[in-house]
Amino acid sequence: MNLRKSYRKAYYNLFSHMYDKFVELHSRDRRQRLRDWLVEMANLKPEDRVLDICTGTGAVAIKALNATRERAFVVGVDFSRGMLSRAREKSRKVNWVQADVTLLPFKDNSFDVVFCAYGFYELKDREKYLALKEICRVLKPSGKFLIMEHEEPKHPIIKLLYRIRLATIGSLSSKKFIKRELEIISQFFQKVDKILSFSGNSKIIIAEGPRP
Ligand SMILES: C[S@@+](CC[C@H](N)C(=O)[O-])C[C@H]1O[C@@H](n2cnc3c(N)ncnc32)[C@H](O)[C@@H]1O
Repeated sequence: MNLRKSYRKAYYNLFSHMYDKFVELHSRDRRQRLRDWLVEMANLKPEDRVLDICTGTGAVAIKALNATRERAFVVGVDFSRGMLSRAREKSRKVNWVQADVTLLPFKDNSFDVVFCAYGFYELKDREKYLALKEICRVLKPSGKFLIMEHEEPKHPIIKLLYRIRLATIGSLSSKKFIKRELEIISQFFQKVDKILSFSGNSKIIIAEGPRP
């Protein structure tokens, strides 16, 4: 594992104790509503097999399980043991798996829906490509991948702060990806759409039909 990735993992292990509180205070709970919107956009069916990558403390995975009245088979993957411990405290009904998104420990064609909330842009560009390949492999041919991320801020100062955050997490290269995100994701999926949140600060990218 490279140094930046080990740093990111250590950061999240440490941060896991206050992550939920931080998100709640920082976003005044807007992020929870945005995550509800993300899960709604997937139109989950009770029999679906759902994977939430970069699951962190499991917010999206748990919402997905609840949206199907606990009938779907839901897996949450993260490489941080600390974040997964917090997730496990919240639900024992989701299957929590410690793994790296660039090497998913699942068989081909095993999921109907893959989610990733506020985790994709933190990956280095090479990791993003490897993760996209893995997501396509584990998705069924009719499956879809939904990404939720912050839209790059327009205001110059906020944009600078946003870039500083990407840099501290070791992912400044993400700005190249962000500029061409739809074009790059289209290399992996047949249909790609982007929807902005009401405020315009967040977005959902829906990618359907993984390319073989
Ligand atoms: C900002 S948090 C988002 C957590 C959650 N999805 C949410 O909505 O709150 C990003 C998460 O991605 C995880 N992560 C980062 N790189 C990863 C990788 N290569 N493999 C697996 N998990 C990773 C981190 O451990 C962290 O829990």
